[in-house]
Amino acid sequence: RLDGSGLWFTHMETIESGPLACPSFIYMPQSTPTFSIIHKELKSGLNKLYNQEVKDESQLDSNGLCVGTSSQKDLSTYFKNEELSVLGNDGYIIRTVGNNVTIIIANTDLGALYGTYHYLRCLQTDNTHKANFDIVEIPSYQRRILNHWDNLDGTVERGYAGHSIWQWEDLPEKISPRYVEYAKANASIGINGTVLNNVNAKPDILKLEYLEKVKVLANTFRPYGIKVYLSINFSSPSALGGLENSDPLKEEVQNWWKEKANEIYSLIPDFGGFLVKANSEGLPGPQDFGRTHADGANMLADALKPHGGIVMWRAFVYNSSGNDRAKQAYDEFKPLDGKFRKNVILQVKNGPVDFQPREPFSPLFGALHQTTLMPELQITQEYLGFSDHLVYLGTLFKEFLNSDTYTNGRNSTVSIITDGSVYDDSITAIAGVANIGLDSNWCGHHFAQANWYAFGRLAWNHQLSARKIATEWLMQTFSHDPDFLNQMSGVMMESREAVVNYMTPLGLHHLMGWGHHYGPEPWCEISGARPDWLPTYYHKADSIGIGFNRSSSGSNAVSQYAEPLFSVYNDPALCPEELLLWFHHLPWNYELVNGRDLWTELCYRYSMGVEQVKYFQCTWNSLQSKVDKNRFNDVQNKLAIQLKEAIWWRDACLLYFQTFSHRPIPSQLDQPK
Ligand code: GCU
Repeated sequence: RLDGSGLWFTHMETIESGPLACPSFIYMPQSTPTFSIIHKELKSGLNKLYNQEVKDESQLDSNGLCVGTSSQKDLSTYFKNEELSVLGNDGYIIRTVGNNVTIIIANTDLGALYGTYHYLRCLQTDNTHKANFDIVEIPSYQRRILNHWDNLDGTVERGYAGHSIWQWEDLPEKISPRYVEYAKANASIGINGTVLNNVNAKPDILKLEYLEKVKVLANTFRPYGIKVYLSINFSSPSALGGLENSDPLKEEVQNWWKEKANEIYSLIPDFGGFLVKANSEGLPGPQDFGRTHADGANMLADALKPHGGIVMWRAFVYNSSGNDRAKQAYDEFKPLDGKFRKNVILQVKNGPVDFQPREPFSPLFGALHQTTLMPELQITQEYLGFSDHLVYLGTLFKEFLNSDTYTNGRNSTVSIITDGSVYDDSITAIAGVANIGLDSNWCGHHFAQANWYAFGRLAWNHQLSARKIATEWLMQTFSHDPDFLNQMSGVMMESREAVVNYMTPLGLHHLMGWGHHYGPEPWCEISGARPDWLPTYYHKADSIGIGFNRSSSGSNAVSQYAEPLFSVYNDPALCPEELLLWFHHLPWNYELVNGRDLWTELCYRYSMGVEQVKYFQCTWNSLQSKVDKNRFNDVQNKLAIQLKEAIWWRDACLLYFQTFSHRPIPSQLDQPK
């Protein structure tokens, strides 16, 4: 089905009563492609919500809704200049002024579009809202970007929702209706950029043939404010241009990139820039020529600069035969601090290893003071049960964004040090690896849509709570029934902790199948396993205990964190229990705060994860009458898979670890089969 239905903003329940009456008309003096969208969205949204046709007026009058930009004098006269100027490009004000007139005002069309979606969201979800609006919103990050790991052959790396939504073979002639639905879904939560292709990029994306297809997508997304970016392959000058090599310090290579940039911008004048994975997991990069990451990034930045483009250079680098992988990105990039051009931004994954169910934040956040950083989150559930497990990531994203790096004293949270408040960054950005595919529900699991939604909402406002986002999403997707909302927001809020429990409790990590990353595989005696995984993966279980010693007596990864984190993480007695085995190798009989020994606690945690999924199942089953049949069945079936696999995880991990601990599973717990 390509109709694009089933996204959060398409489900609108009629408002029976409430403080917010339907406006009696819309006054919208401007007409641009974006204002036409605003008009359409308001008309259809108000119609669905109030069951009324709202008419248009040609002037501001009582009981009306007005939308415009600050250049519109009859609207801007209600606002102070200072409050309008701080809105920047994307911010907006929604305010009810005299005579029950509500005005949505921004400095740009796009700000007005974001304000319009906010207004509709309030009508849909905010029961407590007073009759008068007074909302001022300025986004936390300037660039709020999805990264698609979509290949040109239609497959999606780590994608669990069907094939890629980009129909390359049909473009540029045929424009799938999905593209507009996609743009709307993103604009409705403030996402304003998309990297169309996989970070493991093929040079072909830069061929004219593909750029003409990209141009059509960019044209479709433009009125919704979505800029297009591309992942590039660092060897493109030699692979596509026939140059001898792609050494970034060679003039002919630099010229090739300049010409390529000129070509791209002649087709797509507002092209966003490049995302680059270089010298990582076998991909080419500047180090192939004895150059640094900064040399490579700066060359691309110089080619894009005249056009206003940026380079997002990924810090996801490691050498599997080197020392502790968790340390390597820091070791490589810390010495390059201050060496990057202003239009380069380092894109850093939330954790130091790889999107695990739980990791500490990457120590690069807070370590670089003269280099702009952007967080990379993973929305697709590569290590979290794919789209088969109900795992709400709002809590994971928040835990990361709220992590205190202490780099500039207390409260130097990741969010504050990346949003421009601590460092005077000229670019601020955040990226999320998309979980979108051709599946009729877009994300493979109905609840996986909530993770796309949560990413967008937090990219817009990192101060929102995970629970508020979950509840908002449930109301816009399923139902306004208070019992349903209460029960399912509870499930969502607990779901990430459950997956941590049944997969990788107490700071364990990377126990999953080593190629596909699905299901448990903590044993590593397989042919082809990488050197850093042998002999016992990252859990390092042995007859004495379990855990990766990253303390000062081990790999000393703790030294990459600022005080007091260094001291806290370095001492098992102070280290938060949820990260204990990330930083320490501890004896099986190590006593935890609750008095249990480590082995017993592991058994409890794994079993608790299974119990949590049983509770999710019971809760969902009890809500059958409140959900339509198809979605009820879909989620029910997925929960059955999740339970089976939670048990699989528990049994596989405990039975395997038992071969080291030689201790019994406590008799009160379900015994592994
Ligand atoms: C992980 C993932 C890869 C991906 C890589 C990256 O290792 O498994 O598929 O390419 O991250 O982020 O570059």
